[in-house]
Amino acid sequence: MAAMTDNLVSTLQQTLNETDPDIARVLDSETVRQNIGLELIASENFVSSAVLEAAGSVLTNKYAEGYPSRRYYGGCEHVDVAESLAIQRARALFGAEHANVQPHSGAQANMAAYFALLKPGDTVLGMDLAHGGHLTHGHPLNFSGQLYKIVPYGVRRDDERIDYEAIDQLAHEHRPNLIMVGASAYPRVINFERIRHIANEVGASLVTDMAHIAGLVAGGVHPSPLPHSDIVTTTTHKTLRGPRGGLVLCRNNHAKAVDKALFPGVQGGPLMHVIAAKAVCFQEATQPAFVDYQQQTIKNACRLGSALQDAGFRLVSGGTDNHLILVDVFSRGITGQVAEKALGLAGITVNKNAIPFDENPPMVASGIRIGTPAVTTRGMAEPEMDLIASYIARVLASPDDEQISNIVRSEVQLLCQKFPLYQTLQD
Ligand SMILES: Cc1ncc(COP(=O)(O)O)c(C=O)c1O
Repeated sequence: MAAMTDNLVSTLQQTLNETDPDIARVLDSETVRQNIGLELIASENFVSSAVLEAAGSVLTNKYAEGYPSRRYYGGCEHVDVAESLAIQRARALFGAEHANVQPHSGAQANMAAYFALLKPGDTVLGMDLAHGGHLTHGHPLNFSGQLYKIVPYGVRRDDERIDYEAIDQLAHEHRPNLIMVGASAYPRVINFERIRHIANEVGASLVTDMAHIAGLVAGGVHPSPLPHSDIVTTTTHKTLRGPRGGLVLCRNNHAKAVDKALFPGVQGGPLMHVIAAKAVCFQEATQPAFVDYQQQTIKNACRLGSALQDAGFRLVSGGTDNHLILVDVFSRGITGQVAEKALGLAGITVNKNAIPFDENPPMVASGIRIGTPAVTTRGMAEPEMDLIASYIARVLASPDDEQISNIVRSEVQLLCQKFPLYQTLQD
């Protein structure tokens, strides 16, 4: 018996390096990659060590189907505390009557919102993926496009901003049950109030997916969709800087339907380690430093955008109000695909992205999407944005030139060394 216990203890105490050197190497290499490169993917960020600790904790062992104090499993007394704190903090942070912190991801948060408000075959007005929307807003290959009748809306051709008149017209013509608002690649503030007004006129529910801007909303630097929406969904890992996951916020009148839709409707057991990490993230988001961070994220996006404009690039909609810019690289003769690859070789990570009315297919794309949340977390500010714009301009002026790519990559590494990340993981 003693030998068995000793064995178990020694197994538990083995480091990852001893148990699985292959995966340990992946973690090491990824830590180095994150440290030495410029992360400009608009939907990524770097969590604090506290969030990382909660996410990598023993709470991963616990099954807790149900909700705090109403579980289908015993032994939930401690995870109940974590989930109750996460709920309480999410509600306080966003001024919401009800919060469900269990969605494993943004897609599942959206699924829960649809299930709470719709039945299959209902009509949804959603932003076209090709104009900046998300797959879960009605793409034919996604559950949303398969279960519901989707009427897409988009941006105007002239100023590339949301076409509110078209939404009004489409809403009156199709009488949707639900209007889905929110985007993955839209650099402008959305007029939630105006869309609420349209929804009221046609008797539609309004769901806002604030996945990209949740941190800006929490920091008070972007208007909140909460007062205008029946349900608000979000991810917790983008500007909000929490663990990978989702969140649903709503008024009390939708609370029961949302909770039932998420569990047992969409998911089984919640990820308690991630829920604990969400609680940590919501706490961090109430700190004054978080407001400064969000302000700087927007300032950085504006500065990077204007520096790229000075270097001759066209920005979709002419600029940004939030944490991201969409750069039309095709107007400079290269595709998004080529730009993503060339910048990647120089240590700058971005993603190719369709621009509105794109002539190229999505896997080629005419644009790149650039976001500042991650580099701002590292402490970078306006002077670094000027440098980053100059790196991007140099690489994209000669995307096939290996020598330029190598020179820029060394400069990127030197810059990154001044803004270190996760030192202890690298030791
Ligand atoms: C607006 C929006 N909603 C939902 C999601 C989906 O989130 P997840 O990847 O966590 O499912 C994303 C992800 O990029 C998003 O941009």
